[in-house]
Amino acid sequence: MSRLKRLNIFSLLFKKREPILVEKEVAKLPYTMRPLLPKYKVVDEYWIREPFSKVYIASLPELGGAYAYFVSEVELMEEERRACDKLIDILSAELSPPEEEPVEDLKVHVLKEANRLIDKYNLTLGIPEESREKILYYVERDLLGFGPIHAMILDPNIEDISCEGVGKPVYVWHRRYEGLPSNLIFLDDRYLDDLVIKLTHIGGKHISTAFPIVDTMLYGKHRYVATFRKEVTPKGSTFTIRKFREEPFSIVELINYGTVTAKMAAYFWLLLENRMSVIIIGGTGAGKTTLLNALASLIKPSMKICTVEEIAELNLPHENWVQFVSRESYGVGGTASGAIPLFTLVKTTLRYRPDYIIVGEVRGEEAFVLFQALATGHGGMCTLHAEDVDYAIKRLTSPPMNVAEVYIPLMNVVVEVERVHLPKPVHGLHFGRRAREVSEIISHKEFVRIFEWDPLTDIYNSRLEDSILLRKIALKTGRTVRELLDEIERREIVLKWMAKRNIFDISDVAKVVSQYYMSPETIYGIAARELAIPIKLRVKAVDNLSSEASSNEDKEPNSEETEES
Ligand SMILES: Nc1ncnc2c1ncn2[C@@H]1O[C@H](COP(=O)(O)OP(=O)(O)O)[C@@H](O)[C@H]1O
Ligand SMILES: [Mg+2]
Repeated sequence: MSRLKRLNIFSLLFKKREPILVEKEVAKLPYTMRPLLPKYKVVDEYWIREPFSKVYIASLPELGGAYAYFVSEVELMEEERRACDKLIDILSAELSPPEEEPVEDLKVHVLKEANRLIDKYNLTLGIPEESREKILYYVERDLLGFGPIHAMILDPNIEDISCEGVGKPVYVWHRRYEGLPSNLIFLDDRYLDDLVIKLTHIGGKHISTAFPIVDTMLYGKHRYVATFRKEVTPKGSTFTIRKFREEPFSIVELINYGTVTAKMAAYFWLLLENRMSVIIIGGTGAGKTTLLNALASLIKPSMKICTVEEIAELNLPHENWVQFVSRESYGVGGTASGAIPLFTLVKTTLRYRPDYIIVGEVRGEEAFVLFQALATGHGGMCTLHAEDVDYAIKRLTSPPMNVAEVYIPLMNVVVEVERVHLPKPVHGLHFGRRAREVSEIISHKEFVRIFEWDPLTDIYNSRLEDSILLRKIALKTGRTVRELLDEIERREIVLKWMAKRNIFDISDVAKVVSQYYMSPETIYGIAARELAIPIKLRVKAVDNLSSEASSNEDKEPNSEETEES
């Protein structure tokens, strides 16, 4: 119900301003979608919503052959546009609440109502039967959806969308073609302001001259940051949408993309079983949160996990998971109060006695509390914006984080992820995300590199045998390091088997992981049999360990296997 009411408000706010027309002047759209000219060379095309919206990637001579992103939507004739606007007005006034609660699907309900109202008012609206579907597409796009950026939001290949003001193309980041200018250009300041307001309201927040910056989440969990008018961005309103992937990447998918190898994943799997702490570092959009989520789903299903974030991005398969999200303050100016920052939430998680505390991204004093928690025996995971390990430690030990240097090794492993260019395309992509380095932290000055990505060959070198943490786990669990290495090898096989069997879905992967925790021999047996790997792994000779260690290369899934027994 309240969502419906909100819809009404949106549509009022977002009612298209008809430009005041001088007689005979053609109504001007407040934005333009530049057409795909015959001289452009189309390199890729796909439907977003057949037959209403389609995307073309084209090479433009005026950009020196660089690519651009073209959204092509079915067009409305002048009368159709007028009828559509009128219908949206009528809908805002007459939309009746759905009969049964809860509403199954808001979209289905609104479209049903739109159909009913077309039938009721078609004498006035004058919508010919063949235009009905087209108009309903625009009703959905403009009333429920995101207006002219709707197709980009629906396009699963788009990772982010950014608008830097009127008169400039909206830019998108495409999974396969990286950053591209789109053919969408906003022309009217007021229209863009209204769109920014509408999107802010969809995110349940407020934006105005007094509060010109907003950071929130749209439906579909897309992260939305915007500025209003010329308050802080002299060229007018701007926004960036970082799209959320509904189905988070599972660890098997990341192995498939080459972000980590099965061996690395198996290593983390063993560490996480033993409550080791992991910190993931990298730049914005490097894939830190994605990797964090995929790794965290390897944590034992029976463990209790508390996650703390500013925006709820994490999505874990665990039953025993408490999710905390920070809150901004209420009120205006000096009276603002009631903020609940990450710091407070991390402190709160301690009372829940979690096995793992996961902080989406540490930026401030919450890092201090997180390390306190690690010192008292909790497991921890987090991401941190930093280019390399040295810089990460500098950030951690300086204000406002202020983590004591002696506490640094409590974060046992650092993983550095980066968006990189690949020496040869993988799944047709020339760039990808790679966990470039995995290092165990001995002290704030000393690290042991366990995995390293080679940018020339796109292969990972591993020196698992140098691992200090495996020695630590061996001591703790009364097993030998060799046994642990074998265990990693078995898990590696299970992960490769999942990739081979196309078990990619995060919940399916979680099921196998959970079954492996319950009966490792059975799952490993199935995996090894299906991959035709001899079940009994031959144990490497002790004195071979160190000499073999540094030359051990870990390639694509299924490419290198264990020795015969
Ligand atoms: N390994 C990966 N392979 C392909 N796409 C990825 C990978 N990791 C992340 N992405 C995509 O990149 C975008 C940014 O990822 P995110 O994890 O939020 O980055 P960060 O937390 O470093 O800012 C998302 O759209 C996500 O789906
Ligand atoms: Mg992130």
